[in-house]
Amino acid sequence: RRSGRRSGHRGNRGCGAGAAVTLQLAIILPTLNERENLAPLIDRISAAMGDTGWEAIIVDDNSEDGTADEARVLARSDPRIRVIQRIGRRGLASAAIEGICATAAPYAAIMDADHQHDPALLPRMLTCVAGGDSDVAIASRYVEGGSTAGLSSARREQASGLANWMARRITGTELTDPMSGYFLMESARFRAAAPSLSGIGFKILLDVLATSRGTLSVKEFPLEFGRRKAGESKLDRAVAFEFLVGLYERFFGKIIPTRFAMFGTVGALGVLVHMAVLASLFPGMTATFWKAQTLAVLVAMSFNFWLNNWLTYHDQRLRGLLAVLAGWAGFCLTCAVGAFANVAVATLLESRGLHWVLAALTGIVIGAVWNYALSSRFVWGR
Ligand code: GDD
Ligand code: MN
Repeated sequence: RRSGRRSGHRGNRGCGAGAAVTLQLAIILPTLNERENLAPLIDRISAAMGDTGWEAIIVDDNSEDGTADEARVLARSDPRIRVIQRIGRRGLASAAIEGICATAAPYAAIMDADHQHDPALLPRMLTCVAGGDSDVAIASRYVEGGSTAGLSSARREQASGLANWMARRITGTELTDPMSGYFLMESARFRAAAPSLSGIGFKILLDVLATSRGTLSVKEFPLEFGRRKAGESKLDRAVAFEFLVGLYERFFGKIIPTRFAMFGTVGALGVLVHMAVLASLFPGMTATFWKAQTLAVLVAMSFNFWLNNWLTYHDQRLRGLLAVLAGWAGFCLTCAVGAFANVAVATLLESRGLHWVLAALTGIVIGAVWNYALSSRFVWGR
């Protein structure tokens, strides 16, 4: 029975006591520190939806500002509001997936909770999908009539345009705004796609479209991207980086695994560090070559350990002095073994007549794979 009555100012939602309204639409609101925004947003949703049966599912990642508590306060006087509070989890995309998996509504919309997405579009988007006009309704900032006015800075606007362009290239869609965080579709369709979604970062729509490989028809609705009402954006450098990693994964992930590619890139940077140290020590003859080379190896290894810990293994980073020191020692040991394998294989191949360049490269690749395999297990392994 969905006939809870909100306290006074939220107005009548069009069903008297006892009159059951069939649940049509779930509005999934991922939140991270959006406490102030919730109550006015529910008011706007309520006004926009009128008599249509809806529920709002707030999926909160344990916000420090008490968003989940605020959501529970609202939900107590309005059973159309539901709360999922996640502990130890992060991510807009994974929150959206979780929300859609928790509803019984046949249709689901994902919407930002900071008022940048106008709920007034919801009824038209619902009519479009429920009426069979398209499988997905997308609110677009870049279609005729939409705007990016609410983007916080010129730099953000440029980044948005660039991300959009890249996203269009991989999905091969004609979509104007594949990075939109505001869309509506059949919830069962979404759940069917869910097992193949990455759940990383902000690009949930892009993932849904890429996963369905052009089988979903879409329709765009012009969105005037508003200004955030309270609080600040959570789309930071880490999210932007995750976006790039996600693109890599779709393109090349099956050929060279993402983590190994990162590990290799870090290794290549390590070579640069090594050469820089060497160049600054050796030419002046303040050090004999072997001393300079040894120091360069140590610096480069430490640099590689630090960068891998921070980047490649960001998700299982070693923290705390002891753990880091132990990890660093383990990494140096691993590298020593890898270097030994590298030299042994390269020497063997060269002695068998392989060109020295190829022999050296083979040694490097073997050393890298060895380092990767060992360190992923023994340094960052769980
Ligand atoms: N549960 C949860 N967990 N929610 C999150 C998280 C998270 O880790 N990160 C962000 N959110 C919520 C925010 O609280 C907000 O309701 C919504 O997701 C959007 O986050 P913003 O931080 O406001 O994103 P934005 O305005 O910078 O980015 C907008 O534009 C992007 C493209 O340019 C959003 O519309 C994105 O969806 C969109 O991809
Ligand atoms: Mn926002």
